[in-house]
Amino acid sequence: MIDSREYRDRREKFMAKIGNGTAIFPSAPPAIMHHDVEYAYRQDSDFFYLTGFQEPEAVAVLAPHHEEHRFVLFLRPKDPKKETWTGYRTGVEGAKEQYGVDEAYPIGELDEKLPQYLVKADRIYYHCGRDSSFNEKIISHWQRLMAGYQKRGTGPIAIEDPGPILHPMRQMKSAAELEMVRKATALSAAAHNHVRSFAKPGLYEYELAAEIEYFFRRQGAIGPAYPSIVASGANACILHYIENSRQIQDGDLLLIDAGCCYGDYNGDITRTFPVNGEFTKEQKIIYELVLTAQLKAIAAVKPGNTYNQFHDAAVEVIVDGLMDLGLLVGDKEEIIKEKKYKPFFMHRSGHWLGLDVHDAGVYKHGEEVWVTLQPGHTLTVEPGIYIDPNIQVVEGQPEVPERWRGIGVRIEDDVLVTSSGYEVLTAAVPK
Ligand code: GLY
Ligand code: MN
Ligand code: MN
Repeated sequence: MIDSREYRDRREKFMAKIGNGTAIFPSAPPAIMHHDVEYAYRQDSDFFYLTGFQEPEAVAVLAPHHEEHRFVLFLRPKDPKKETWTGYRTGVEGAKEQYGVDEAYPIGELDEKLPQYLVKADRIYYHCGRDSSFNEKIISHWQRLMAGYQKRGTGPIAIEDPGPILHPMRQMKSAAELEMVRKATALSAAAHNHVRSFAKPGLYEYELAAEIEYFFRRQGAIGPAYPSIVASGANACILHYIENSRQIQDGDLLLIDAGCCYGDYNGDITRTFPVNGEFTKEQKIIYELVLTAQLKAIAAVKPGNTYNQFHDAAVEVIVDGLMDLGLLVGDKEEIIKEKKYKPFFMHRSGHWLGLDVHDAGVYKHGEEVWVTLQPGHTLTVEPGIYIDPNIQVVEGQPEVPERWRGIGVRIEDDVLVTSSGYEVLTAAVPK
């Protein structure tokens, strides 16, 4: 569990960096499943990181320059009738007792109360998000405040995205966060091991997806971190295949990319294996190539190395291997520079992992300056080779012989950067 002191420390750290600015973080808008039915609510990760508050229809305001109210929460008021329909509400008094706020207001008072926290701010930190009506609300407050700027000489002269300040904080996992990440990745790993014993020809992909997701829920996870991918045969060549509707055939490779969300932190694991226990010759060659690339990439995860180094390591192994097989021809340096391997390997070898599966934080500062890995970063390492049955190779490259077509392999682990190198958090799943 992450306690209220850690949330307070995060707010203090963030506020120390925004000086005379005021930051506004809305909760996530609910997502509609159909008509008037919503998906299970998932809080916005920036909002959650700073507040620990899980309810919808809330807005957090951080105003370090305000004399009394540095942390303000607008939220749904208590309402016994509505709570009968849609569940418990913390309410204004509850927010003061439980969430360390300096002031709390009913969400309906946002327009009336917000300007007092903006009028002396020199800028507004706000991420223009998916909720365009809320974006418009913030802009109209800004417009009104700036209408009085000439007379007052104070007011926010800019809206700035808080990401460049907040996201490096989110990238660096605290001890308490690492506990959550460890739990999410361990449960994800256990689910992979559980489902592998069920996998056999004749089953439908969705049966295995159900088995994985049942396992997640039974172990206390909120559910899948993303729609589970159970891709047999050539379906493995579709990166985010989520139909999971095919009957698994004898001789198929099975690619399972699944992870759970535990306490808002996520696991993300891919394994590929022959469903009848025996690789064909071609499957084995491609699998071993991806495995070598992944191990080489993981070995390049260490503090001081940059984010692209592990990807480059994977690319080099994959290009060498595909050239040995005659699937790529020509000058190796040129193949890499011009990315001629992309019909086989079209994604990068990983991403940050945390409150979001594809977690916050940049990978690059500008064109060529890659982020340097630091202890406390968590990321995935997931190279793959995908030989789509209809693969379109780059001009000048040979047509792919039939025997290779339809093979898709990805191997994905979750990795923590440590002071001496790395720790594979998902090593419990065989590969
Ligand atoms: N499962 C999504 C990903 O691996 O990035
Ligand atoms: Mn991933
Ligand atoms: Mn994945």
